[in-house]
Amino acid sequence: MGLARVAIVTLGAIFVLFGTGGIAIGPYRWMTRDNFDAVMEKMDTVNEFNCKEMSSESLRLPANSVGQRPKFNVLPQIVIFPNRTNLIHMHNMALNRAYFYSYILQRLNESQVTDFPMLPGMLYYYMGASADVSSGVGLMNGSGVLFDTHTQYANWYPTILLFNNTLPLFGPKAFLVDDFQDPVNWLREPTNNTIRVDDLGSGPGHNYTASWHPLNSMVVRDVPNQIDFIPDLRTDYRAKHQYDYLIYNATRVGEMERMPNIKRQFFGPPSPGISEPYQPVYFTRPYFDCGRSNKWIVSAVAPVIDFMVRYSIETKLRRPQYVAITVTDLDFLRIDFDPCDRSVDSPDRTYFSGVARCRSTTLCEPLPGHGYQRGGYVCHCRPGYRYPYWQNGPFLGRDIEQASEAEADQFECIPVEWKLQRLTERGITPNSKRRRRRKRSLDETKELVHLMHLYNASAMAELRSKVAEHDRRDRELKRAQKAGSYGLGSLVKGLLSRAARSISTPADMGGQNVHYLGRLATFDADRFKAATQLISFTASVTPENCAAKTPQQLELPGEAGYGADTSFQVQARSALRLAHFLSAFSQNVNPDEVYGPFYSDKHLNRDQLFGEAFANVMSDGWIRSAGIYYDREAFWDPLLKRRIEYFGPTAFKLASDDTGDQKQRQLSFVAEDAAGWPLERAYFERDWFRILKQRWASNTYGLETFVNKPYVRTDLNGTGSKPFQRYPLYYRAPRFADMYWSKPYFDCNRNRDPNSRHVNDWVITVAAPFFGYSEQRSLQFLGVTAVTVRLDKLDINQCPGNFYEANYFKNSAPCHFESSYCVPVIQNKFQLENYKCECRQGFEYPYNDISIWFFAGGTVSSQYERAQRNETNYYRMLKCREGAGSSLLPSRGSILVAMLVGVLVANLSRD
Ligand SMILES: *[C@@H]1O[C@H](CO)[C@@H](O)[C@H](O)[C@H]1NC(C)=O
Ligand SMILES: *[C@@H]1O[C@H](CO)[C@@H](O)[C@H](O)[C@H]1NC(C)=O
Ligand SMILES: *[C@@H]1O[C@H](CO)[C@@H](O)[C@H](O)[C@H]1NC(C)=O
Ligand SMILES: *[C@@H]1O[C@H](CO)[C@@H](O)[C@H](O)[C@H]1NC(C)=O
Ligand SMILES: *[C@@H]1O[C@H](CO)[C@@H](O)[C@H](O)[C@H]1NC(C)=O
Ligand SMILES: *[C@@H]1O[C@H](CO)[C@@H](O)[C@H](O)[C@H]1NC(C)=O
Ligand SMILES: *[C@@H]1O[C@H](CO)[C@@H](O)[C@H](O)[C@H]1NC(C)=O
Ligand SMILES: *[C@@H]1O[C@H](CO)[C@@H](O)[C@H](O)[C@H]1NC(C)=O
Repeated sequence: MGLARVAIVTLGAIFVLFGTGGIAIGPYRWMTRDNFDAVMEKMDTVNEFNCKEMSSESLRLPANSVGQRPKFNVLPQIVIFPNRTNLIHMHNMALNRAYFYSYILQRLNESQVTDFPMLPGMLYYYMGASADVSSGVGLMNGSGVLFDTHTQYANWYPTILLFNNTLPLFGPKAFLVDDFQDPVNWLREPTNNTIRVDDLGSGPGHNYTASWHPLNSMVVRDVPNQIDFIPDLRTDYRAKHQYDYLIYNATRVGEMERMPNIKRQFFGPPSPGISEPYQPVYFTRPYFDCGRSNKWIVSAVAPVIDFMVRYSIETKLRRPQYVAITVTDLDFLRIDFDPCDRSVDSPDRTYFSGVARCRSTTLCEPLPGHGYQRGGYVCHCRPGYRYPYWQNGPFLGRDIEQASEAEADQFECIPVEWKLQRLTERGITPNSKRRRRRKRSLDETKELVHLMHLYNASAMAELRSKVAEHDRRDRELKRAQKAGSYGLGSLVKGLLSRAARSISTPADMGGQNVHYLGRLATFDADRFKAATQLISFTASVTPENCAAKTPQQLELPGEAGYGADTSFQVQARSALRLAHFLSAFSQNVNPDEVYGPFYSDKHLNRDQLFGEAFANVMSDGWIRSAGIYYDREAFWDPLLKRRIEYFGPTAFKLASDDTGDQKQRQLSFVAEDAAGWPLERAYFERDWFRILKQRWASNTYGLETFVNKPYVRTDLNGTGSKPFQRYPLYYRAPRFADMYWSKPYFDCNRNRDPNSRHVNDWVITVAAPFFGYSEQRSLQFLGVTAVTVRLDKLDINQCPGNFYEANYFKNSAPCHFESSYCVPVIQNKFQLENYKCECRQGFEYPYNDISIWFFAGGTVSSQYERAQRNETNYYRMLKCREGAGSSLLPSRGSILVAMLVGVLVANLSRD
């Protein structure tokens, strides 16, 4: 145990706030005031009581305080790290709602008699916003849609609002509220389950599109941040893309219509190519949500398009127009920021760049999951340096932020002496100074940038917490053993025994800690073979040959899908959102209820459900298909005025190459009623439907109850706001953990699917159940919502794991575990190289390599395979070397270098 740790234990909080002025500085003088402190001070001066009097500038944080905001057109190209999960979810959800409302408003724009009453009613908007929030706890705090002046043809005031008239403003917005003071919450604990929905277009001073309104400059029209969808001043069509869609009916259960029932277009949010300028979603600066959630939040904003003016004789004026924006919010404190220093021209440079306190011999890497907190980073040694003997793995930012000035020096690395020549494919490069310098300036810098991008400590948060846990236990153990005698004696002892300690497994650790895993127990050659076979098998199945295989062959073991719930969390949440919405709506809407001048809503209809399926597929590049699958006789069709046997609106991205034009293919979608799928593949026989039905049809115990507190306008013009007549509303819906994840399977449709719109690829389906009330007013299973995601974005984790983790690829990383440990790397690829082998405590990376300090998974795997095939390889050289303190070595002598190189070359040639 190092001195640093001993002292750190006694330290408390990271921050102290002095006095009422709110000057935030670190606890020690060496920690100079930085931008993090400046923002803390600013946030500290605003609260729910004084925010109404503050200027709008003091309610906002600097524009560049959120980095790496997702951009629609680069999302398909980049690796998505866990630290952006919540921003991507917000981005996709804003887009999802924008697609849905654009679709439905234009789908039902023709006839005042048949279409107009079928448009979403009031509770559709309210429950939709509420479901966005309740299905994304931790990823989203608020959601809503704000209509521009006189663009909402509300159909829920049939007596006082003519069909061709509009509401002045309409802005249903849901946000999560603390409910610990609710009379019904007798535990007095916040439940995360209470959602308030306001109509922002009502109440005094409600015109959010007017320049004086605080929301206007922050969310509705923030031109510097490119948010200027309403009022719509754009005249060019480039920013409003036209999407094609086809819908196929089922003629009866088990039979599909050959010709599409509908072939139409609608205008939707832009879908820019990589070089086009308009994004569909923009993020606001962090701002204080005064008078509503009273938190610092960031919003994502996307446009809704309608073909205006509807129902008017003046057809000349009609054009696609931005009529509303969808808004999703996230608590600023939950957004990870990158505290590391970035060069001035780096796109990753933000307001907080450089607040990390890594020392000069170390390099900084951000850690996910810390939000707006200090210490969300690690400092690992620069290439050519190694950790001091007491240090196990990289220095944690958390520790550095609590260190006194004297202790701070302990976070330095020690130069590695006697570095060996750099490894190349052929073994060792000949030593040539001139050549090395030239390479460094070109290739190696490029390689450095690439590798840094690929291999920074993406998946390490969990690892670090394990290490911290170990440290704590270790400390306690020591304390118990030595009864409080930390002295120089124990330090010296530790020094002497370090070699032994670093590779043995402390008895109390078991398999818990990756750094301390025991010898040889962690690489399983058979597993490696099985894993490579599995991967090559998946590659061997193609759409052409899949029909010849048995159903068993087209399915991978369930353990091969390990980690899908984290890799595909955002995609799964879109199915969960739909399940929440359908549950909330079905459990609360009674079309016969009239509240004074207005209806709450009508039955759900086919067009709305197809629209929801389309929105899920359109808003997320990773989703291949999405659908809603009703149980037998569970869907009441308002057009036919009866229950229909099966109904399964399912949307697909157009998979066929019919449209040669890449851009047009991107903008084309197709949907069908899955009730028409051939009976041998009927949706109600699929595992994701059957198993959820078995679980939930007879027993709904375990569902979460959500409380929705809706506030509605007092009159048409929205002069006031009051609680809805039925207040609060409750709905019961599944949690994320209740979703069903299928095994990875090959969805083979080549010969069975005349319109070749199906997936034909390795996929995973994730499904969530939804519920309504039966005629006896008991909760009833109505069906499932599902999305299907391509397997090739799943990250394989080959590193050792706990015995209870059902991971097919566990222990298949051929790291040299006596000297190194395995760290998973996120690459969004279903391949066997998503790891790296880093040196264990007491070991050092021996090669003279300017860019990396670990062995990359790709190299390790391929060299291991070569070794297995008895080909030339340098697998044996991919080991860390026992760290020799510089003082223990004799002065620089060429004999030793020659010896080391000699041994390694001998190793190489022997294989
Ligand atoms: C509420 O959500 C937060 C963030 O996800 C979580 O930490 C907390 O435990 C939740 N509370 C309850 C009662 O579930
Ligand atoms: C609405 O329709 C009525 C009758 O159909 C017509 O008299 C009126 O001018 C229309 N109003 C608008 C704003 O188009
Ligand atoms: C809101 O303000 C804008 C800009 O001042 C104005 O054009 C619009 O008519 C107002 N809307 C309402 C409903 O008053
Ligand atoms: C498809 O189904 C809808 C709803 O039942 C119906 O209105 C429509 O006419 C059908 N289309 C065809 C081509 O059968
Ligand atoms: C309905 O919207 C579509 C495009 O989305 C448009 O082509 C059509 O003209 C609109 N119909 C009316 C009556 O506005
Ligand atoms: C998110 O994590 C990745 C991988 O560790 C890192 O490259 C990136 O800079 C991080 N981003 C932020 C904002 O922390
Ligand atoms: C709403 O406002 C308009 C214009 O300001 C006015 O003509 C109308 O009478 C108002 N309606 C109600 C119900 O107050
Ligand atoms: C590699 O060589 C070893 C020892 O010579 C032998 O036992 C093994 O069968 C060989 N493996 C292959 C794949 O040739």
